[in-house]
Amino acid sequence: MALQRRLLQFINITKPCQKLCGVQSYSAQAASQSDNEEKRKTHFGFETVDEDEKTKKVHQVFETVADKYDTMNDMMSFGVHRVWKDIFMMRFAPTPGTKLLDMAGGTGDITFRYINYLRNQANPDTEKRSSVTVSDINQSMLNVGKARAEKQGYLKNSPVDVDWLCADAEQLPLPDECYNAYTIAFGIRNCTHIDKVLEEAYRVLQPGGRFMCLEFSQLPNSTMQWLYDQYSFQMIPVMGQLVAGQWKPYQYLVESIRQFPDQEKFKLMIEEAGFRQVTYENLTFGVCAIHSGFKL
Ligand SMILES: C[S@@+](CC[C@H](N)C(=O)[O-])C[C@H]1O[C@@H](n2cnc3c(N)ncnc32)[C@H](O)[C@@H]1O
Repeated sequence: MALQRRLLQFINITKPCQKLCGVQSYSAQAASQSDNEEKRKTHFGFETVDEDEKTKKVHQVFETVADKYDTMNDMMSFGVHRVWKDIFMMRFAPTPGTKLLDMAGGTGDITFRYINYLRNQANPDTEKRSSVTVSDINQSMLNVGKARAEKQGYLKNSPVDVDWLCADAEQLPLPDECYNAYTIAFGIRNCTHIDKVLEEAYRVLQPGGRFMCLEFSQLPNSTMQWLYDQYSFQMIPVMGQLVAGQWKPYQYLVESIRQFPDQEKFKLMIEEAGFRQVTYENLTFGVCAIHSGFKL
């Protein structure tokens, strides 16, 4: 603090002289501007873009793919994403009375598994109602989710109250400590600031609450990673073009997977946000991983 004060004093003292010379203000401003610019850059797949631009581009990706999202998931993963999501729900193992925020919930895959899990309890505790807020930054994805929920009967005689919220995971319009569980599946790598998402998750969880994330990850074995890269870079954009008539969103998908921190780095980030007892489990050799942590 003392050092910071000294620096500020120094800047204030030197400002008038520099104004007189008419030189510094330009170079200092330029330096701080370029600092800011550097800070505001991020990646969108393998492209370097302004942070604001990334948010818009990601929004555009999911706006474009919303209608074909579920079909494409089945095709690209040969249906394996369903197994990953089932395992994710088994590890989560919600109990009656759970208040879940399913962030980046998209078309509802995690929410529907959550409802099924609670429905299929051997001794359902009818006294304790559970709830879920399905939240996503993209209204089109939520609309597909709502239509599926209606069509597939998830809202009728459900042990779970469901509500839908269009919101940014980095800035949630929600009070502190209002949920006891938070899930995010295949969503966090699309967010511009992972640390802000984790901070917000921590803020909205009650003490004792659980954070769970399912996300693509890195394969520890380089031969397997090479094979996986061949498949994803050569096949997925082609499938996107053939099935959904879109190449770019699927090119982004594979690139964004490569940019996401590996299992250990992500674990550290979750711990830095304040979560404790952070663990992870690899699925399909590390193609994706489940991270879990608690707010104590
Ligand atoms: C790959 S989908 C995952 C959907 C769903 N969870 C699933 O597993 O099928 C990623 C979702 O993240 C959402 N998303 C991206 N950035 C977001 C943000 N900053 N806040 C909330 N949702 C975001 C997208 O709109 C999209 O619906």
